[in-house]
Amino acid sequence: MTDDVLIVHGGTPLQGQIRVRGAKNLVSKAMVAALLGESPSRLFDVPRIRDVEVVRGLLEIHGVKVSDGVEDGELVMDPTNVESASTDEINVHAGSSRIPILLCGPLLHRLGHAFIPDLGGCHIGPRPIDFHIKALREFGAVVDKTPEGMHLSAPNGLHGAKLELPYPSVGATEQVLLTAVRAEGVTELRNAAIEPEIIDLICVLQKMGAIITVHTDRVIEIQGVPRLYGYEHKPIPDRIEAASWAAAALATRGEIEVVGARQADMMTFLNVFRSIGGELKITDDRVARAGVTGAEGGIKFWHPGGELKAVALETDVHPGFMTDWQQPLVVALTQAHGISIMHETVYEQRLGYTEALNQMGATIQVYRDCLGGTPCRFGRRNFMHSAVIAGPSKLHAADLIIPDLRAGFAHLIAALAAEGTSRVYGVNLINRGYEGFEAKLAALGAHVERP
Ligand code: EPU
Repeated sequence: MTDDVLIVHGGTPLQGQIRVRGAKNLVSKAMVAALLGESPSRLFDVPRIRDVEVVRGLLEIHGVKVSDGVEDGELVMDPTNVESASTDEINVHAGSSRIPILLCGPLLHRLGHAFIPDLGGCHIGPRPIDFHIKALREFGAVVDKTPEGMHLSAPNGLHGAKLELPYPSVGATEQVLLTAVRAEGVTELRNAAIEPEIIDLICVLQKMGAIITVHTDRVIEIQGVPRLYGYEHKPIPDRIEAASWAAAALATRGEIEVVGARQADMMTFLNVFRSIGGELKITDDRVARAGVTGAEGGIKFWHPGGELKAVALETDVHPGFMTDWQQPLVVALTQAHGISIMHETVYEQRLGYTEALNQMGATIQVYRDCLGGTPCRFGRRNFMHSAVIAGPSKLHAADLIIPDLRAGFAHLIAALAAEGTSRVYGVNLINRGYEGFEAKLAALGAHVERP
């Protein structure tokens, strides 16, 4: 692990400008959608992150020609010769990401069968796929789970279905969309997720020829069509990365302008940021285009000096406070005056990283109880899913091991905010979802180095 460590000399406010590109959690799904088309698709503003490489590899072994376009960040995907991949080729990607599960519908439509390897992704709870499998079976797929992975076929084709999710899962909603668009007949999905990344995926599918209606109250209706074509799309910006840098600005008492960040997708975060006492200035791209700033739009986040205020928060599905904003923000909350509360209602085990923050001097206590009013599936089930953060705490340097993507970025922020020199192990994992984070840290004046 010696080449996978970052030495962080903390205590310097981060200051400057960085840019975010297309959202990881849309880009990877839009790449899967390209499989459904009969002509090439072009995706712009694609970040260079490991998750994109994983999906690219999966597409390529299934015969999709993937190449870099002329523009920086442009990806061209040609699915005209989709073909079966061998189990060995597919298993190379086992454990690398959660995305392979979304290939089920597209591969069934294109090839009549699919093999899905063991999934990966961050270890933040059991992350079952029961909603996915139930939905696929209702479309008519035959799903055979084996120790090596999942074999699927559709001997009688795929047909529209009436479905209701037990919880508005992002992945299961995407599964239904990617399967229903070319299934025969109409699909009605109730209790669907409506995250901005889902709406953007619907935009991609509509560009391809799909007919999808988003009704009120989390109901999505999809009218199957026999054929889809390639798309050209610029994804929504990465609102998780943008919020991570915003939290870094607050925790280090700095000022970071996140070029490319978009207000509409981040309203809930922006309200919280302001309630804590952070300052922000939004330059949306319409203002930028009008020549007022002469630059691409974005959001500038800064610590105005003085004391930050404690808050009580709960993570939730959209339009609630995102679970992926939670970890970076908790680091900033260790610097707020008073008692903050964070009730995590999306994942049952997403507070483990707070232990390392306590070793650095934070005072965070985690509880099994639901410390908030949002209906939650984890209360009384022995999951430590509420945190009480007492601040402000002076953070000191430590040796840290990165547990997962978002918690990893939170550890990095803590090391940057702390006095002294920390060693952050397993830091390469951050490349899964944060493009060029070391270059961005350098641009913001952080004192970091590889040993
Ligand atoms: N769930 C089930 N059964 C299922 C599917 C989900 O019980 O079949 C549960 C999960 O265990 C979890 C909840 O439903 O408790 C929500 O999970 P969801 O399906 O919404 O999450 P996901 O699709 O696996 C995506 C993002 C996550 C993000 C969540 C919530 C991607 C690749 N991942 O995961 O992002 O936290 O939605 O917004 O889009 C990250 O980027 O670091 C990340 C973890």
